[in-house]
Amino acid sequence: VWTDAERAAITGIFSKLNCDVVGPNALARCLIVYPWTQRYFAKFGNLYNAAAIMGNPMVAAHGKVVLRGLDKALKNMDDIKKAYTQLSELHSEKLHVDPDNFKLLADCITIVVAGQMGSAFTAEIQAAWQKFLAVVVSALCRQYY
Ligand code: HEM
Repeated sequence: VWTDAERAAITGIFSKLNCDVVGPNALARCLIVYPWTQRYFAKFGNLYNAAAIMGNPMVAAHGKVVLRGLDKALKNMDDIKKAYTQLSELHSEKLHVDPDNFKLLADCITIVVAGQMGSAFTAEIQAAWQKFLAVVVSALCRQYY
C-alpha cells in the first residue's frame, strides 16, 4: 500500500531520471563491486577490469533494458508482483540468477540515482524509493522455489 506522498516521490524520481545514464552506470557498478555477478554476463565479452566494464557497450545496453524494466513496476504500482511474474520466471528458470543479487543491483541503482539527484534526494524520497525497490526485488524473487 502506497501513500500519496510515496507515489509522488517515486513518480518524481522517474520523471527526473535519465535511464540511459543510470542503467548502464548501475549495472557496471554491480559488476565491479560484486564480481561474481559477471558470471551471468559471459556473452558480454570483456569484463576484465573496471574500465572495461564501464566501457562495454553490451553492459550499457543491458543497463538500459533493466532500468526500462523498472518502468513496468511504476506503471503497475498496485500489483508489482503480478507485473513481474514472467520476469521473475525468466531470472529463475532460464537465467538461474541467484536472487540475492537482485538486492545488490537495486542498491547500486539507488546509489546512482542519489548521485544524479543530489540534494533533491531527501530522506523522505530515499525511504519511498527504497520501499519501491524492495517491492521490485521481492516480486522478482517470487517465482523461485
Ligand atoms: C535480462 C530486468 C536483476 C541478469 C533482463 C531483462 C530485464 C531484466 C527487463 C530482459 C528480459 C527479456 O529479454 O525479456 C531486471 C531487473 C532487475 C534485474 C529489473 C533488478 C532490479 C538482474 C541481476 C542479474 C540479472 C541481479 C544477474 C546478476 C540478467 C541476465 C539477463 C537479464 C543474464 C539476460 C541478458 C541477455 O541475455 O541479454 N533483466 N534484471 N538481472 N537479466 Fe535481469
